[in-house]
Amino acid sequence: MLTIDNTSGLRHALQRHRDNGERIAFVPTMGNLHEGHLQLVRRARQLGEVVVVSIFVNPMQFGANEDLDAYPRTMTADREKLFAEGTHYLFAPGVEDIYPEGLEVQTVVRVPDLSETLCGSSRPGHFDGVATVVSKLFNMVQPHVAVFGEKDFQQLSIIRKMVADLCMPVDVVGVPTVRDEDGLALSSRNLYLNEEQRAIAPLLHRTLLESRKAIACGFDNFLQLESHARMQLLQAGFIPDYYAVRDARTLRAVVENTEEIAILAAARLGSTRLIDNVRITLNPASDWGMLATR
Ligand code: PAF
Repeated sequence: MLTIDNTSGLRHALQRHRDNGERIAFVPTMGNLHEGHLQLVRRARQLGEVVVVSIFVNPMQFGANEDLDAYPRTMTADREKLFAEGTHYLFAPGVEDIYPEGLEVQTVVRVPDLSETLCGSSRPGHFDGVATVVSKLFNMVQPHVAVFGEKDFQQLSIIRKMVADLCMPVDVVGVPTVRDEDGLALSSRNLYLNEEQRAIAPLLHRTLLESRKAIACGFDNFLQLESHARMQLLQAGFIPDYYAVRDARTLRAVVENTEEIAILAAARLGSTRLIDNVRITLNPASDWGMLATR
């Protein structure tokens, strides 16, 4: 595995593979790699002959009062994990490589509508930061395929929309969320949870599963479902940010021709913000009949 920290070195190294007709699969990350990220790398290995993983803690996607400085940086351990998974290139640029003229004068990529709801309402500007850095990384790596986790379902939707709208020649592939045995979705931020919070945390996923079961059984009063779930989370010690039953394509309200429902939640335990989601594909032939759950 070769570690490269600048764009020209990366372009030069990847050109050889492109000339050989090899497919480049890319996994963008912010490091502090856990099993969820390694699953993305494994999927990338299936999708391309050359796997590039980036580690860049992107300041543009953190709000003023968020955890940019505290965000765990574990480069040595990350490098070992990526090497063990058969990664070919680790791209680890510095802030000065990605934003050479500073954030204030950086061109911004904004995906309207999808970026404004759910996490976008409570983290204004967050998805502009994500879309901007991902489009820059796509231009630097020029991958054939890029792999993202479904845990951040809104992020995945925004990247798919950006790629479609800007005609980027990249296939975007989503990988199912990896969970601990008790259902908690793996996240770098789980490290911030104390013992008591860690014991409560799996309730977020359990609540989503209960909502999904109710919908699968034909319950279609989503407002009631959402407020019941929020109450349950509050009683357990969470501060819910949102709990929403949405059309999985638009992330807006479920409508008559919705084909897939996403139930998405974000909630704080102390100062740690957890997100999760589950989905249901609807069978158009039978009202709210469930085809598949994810
Ligand atoms: O999901 C992440 O880790 C980040 O948002 C991403 C996609 C690497 C962009 O910084």
